[in-house]
Amino acid sequence: MTGKLVTVFGGSGFIGRHVVRHLAARGWRVRLAVRDIEQAGFLRPAGNLGQISAVPTTITSDASVAAAVKGADAVINLVGVLYERGKRTFQALHVDGARRIAAAAKAAGATHLIHVSALGADAASPSKYARSKAAGEAAVHGAFPGATILRPSVVFGSEDRFFNMFGAMAQISPVLPYFTNTVPHAPGGGGSKFQPVYVGDVAEAIVGAVSGEAHAGRTYELSGPKVYDMKEILQIVNRETMRKCQIWGMPYLIAHINAVFLQFLPTPLLTPDQVKLLKLGSVASGRAPGLEAFGITPTPVELIVPTYLKRFRPVQQTKKIRSAGKLPAA
Ligand SMILES: NC(=O)c1ccc[n+]([C@@H]2O[C@H](COP(=O)([O-])OP(=O)(O)OC[C@H]3O[C@@H](n4cnc5c(N)ncnc54)[C@H](OP(=O)(O)O)[C@@H]3O)[C@@H](O)[C@H]2O)c1
Repeated sequence: MTGKLVTVFGGSGFIGRHVVRHLAARGWRVRLAVRDIEQAGFLRPAGNLGQISAVPTTITSDASVAAAVKGADAVINLVGVLYERGKRTFQALHVDGARRIAAAAKAAGATHLIHVSALGADAASPSKYARSKAAGEAAVHGAFPGATILRPSVVFGSEDRFFNMFGAMAQISPVLPYFTNTVPHAPGGGGSKFQPVYVGDVAEAIVGAVSGEAHAGRTYELSGPKVYDMKEILQIVNRETMRKCQIWGMPYLIAHINAVFLQFLPTPLLTPDQVKLLKLGSVASGRAPGLEAFGITPTPVELIVPTYLKRFRPVQQTKKIRSAGKLPAA
């Protein structure tokens, strides 16, 4: 198999699997550096025979990371977590792991390093997640000055954890809650603002960064074409799931109290740190270039989200649409 070699850390995740498919389509040889090669096996058919391989990797080990990047022309780091558990801390993954990957990529002679951070990365943020993302960016720049940093807003796509979470909630709850600092019906009472970006656009930007010279050493903010407040997002969920849920604005204090308990679930639905992130929202600052720098026109929420939120519609609605000839018979 010919073609340049790229090592992808976090390639088995939501964004990673799109990135791997885009890279394979462009002829890259892809080496997945993953904890569990069996679990990443589903990605092999995304490429030709031998185009996609997987190596077991521990990102807390210098030797393991060095072995994963050996001979790679480019390296992409998509490793990230939304909550901490035991040794799996923000510091260990977002900062120390990112530094280790960057240093190993440099030592291996990789020409490109793409590091995926997050919009809102800020050393002075009230959120520990956002502070760790800023520290990770600094660590990456220190070890690999020509690295490209990409900061996506909240990412949407058929397997996202944002619209799908609200879609699932709409299926079982008569109420869709959001949190606001002011009276819900007052101007600005729609809660924090978000600028969701399509996963396919993020993947395309990553492939653009790894393939071109122009993006080295630069930081990009990846966001969608439109800003929504939380109330508007829930209205989209209500409409596309054909539900009539009440949309209620609540004070952040309620979110915080819930998060204090929910953080202890095996997979926490909400943590106090995530409440801080929610409060900040996720909108591009405009101080960094965005998708347009990669020649990408951002895909609207309205074009993609309906295609997967329909799975949360009431069964009888789907039957009605089918019988009206709008959907093929099951
Ligand atoms: N999705 C969003 O809305 C969004 C928004 C802004 C920024 N980001 C950032 O984009 C990156 C990718 O996000 P995503 O949504 O694709 O996340 P994801 O689906 O949770 O994937 C995260 C990846 O990190 C890997 N990982 C987690 N813990 C690890 C560990 N201890 N050692 C090695 N690998 C580990 C996971 O591997 P396993 O499969 O082995 O668990 C997975 O491949 C993250 O850095 C995230 O912070 C995402």
